[in-house]
Amino acid sequence: MRLQKVLAQAGVASRRVCEQMIDKRRVEVNGKIVTTQGMRIDPSTAVVKVDGMRVMITEELVHLALNKPRGWQSTMLDELGRPCVGDLVAERIASGQRLFHVGRLDAETEGLLLLTNDGELAHRLMHPSYKVQKTYLADVEGVVRRSVDRALEAGVTLDDGPVRVDAFSVVDAFDKSTLVKIVLHEGRKHIVRRLLEHVGHPVTRLVRTQIGSVHLGDQRPGTIRALNRQEVGALYKEVGL
Ligand code: URA
Repeated sequence: MRLQKVLAQAGVASRRVCEQMIDKRRVEVNGKIVTTQGMRIDPSTAVVKVDGMRVMITEELVHLALNKPRGWQSTMLDELGRPCVGDLVAERIASGQRLFHVGRLDAETEGLLLLTNDGELAHRLMHPSYKVQKTYLADVEGVVRRSVDRALEAGVTLDDGPVRVDAFSVVDAFDKSTLVKIVLHEGRKHIVRRLLEHVGHPVTRLVRTQIGSVHLGDQRPGTIRALNRQEVGALYKEVGL
């Protein structure tokens, strides 16, 4: 396996940054500083170090889907002792797995959050250039008109720049509120809430139901499941791995 891929997979950094580390002579394999790109190594036997520190590379890859409950922090450890996703995988962490969450959901947002030790996949799922779509269901205040749909699909400008949704639809309409579905490949902070507030419909409940081809389905809040091979394969394909 190519060295930069092994490093990225181990969560050191993205492949491109790992290549830069190799250029800067920061990486060594079996005691020798690597001086060229594209070196192939056997991950089951090679001893790889970055800046003199051993990188664990033989770890099995783990891909988990969590239904994050409302009110939980998207962190592995919360300094204020609030409930956080790390609590839900505490046993795995204690047994030495180096899991991290792929992006974040606001504390008040529920739904699908991926946890993995697969560094390169996580990096690509979070980076907007890979255009992985995330789907949300939002309860919003007010009755949503057709013009909102057109505005969101044409694009609006928020404080931190323009944003355009990939798809928007009304799922259900009530007297004073509307259930909408919104699909976008942006990961900016509070993006769905800010976007819907901007078009006059503050969000009262937000659930992420899909990341790429992985669905939340009927998974209960607070539970974790391992993605199956088809799901992991599809995610890899979506980010070109
Ligand atoms: N957009 C938001 O506003 N909140 C989230 O948690 C995710 C996307």
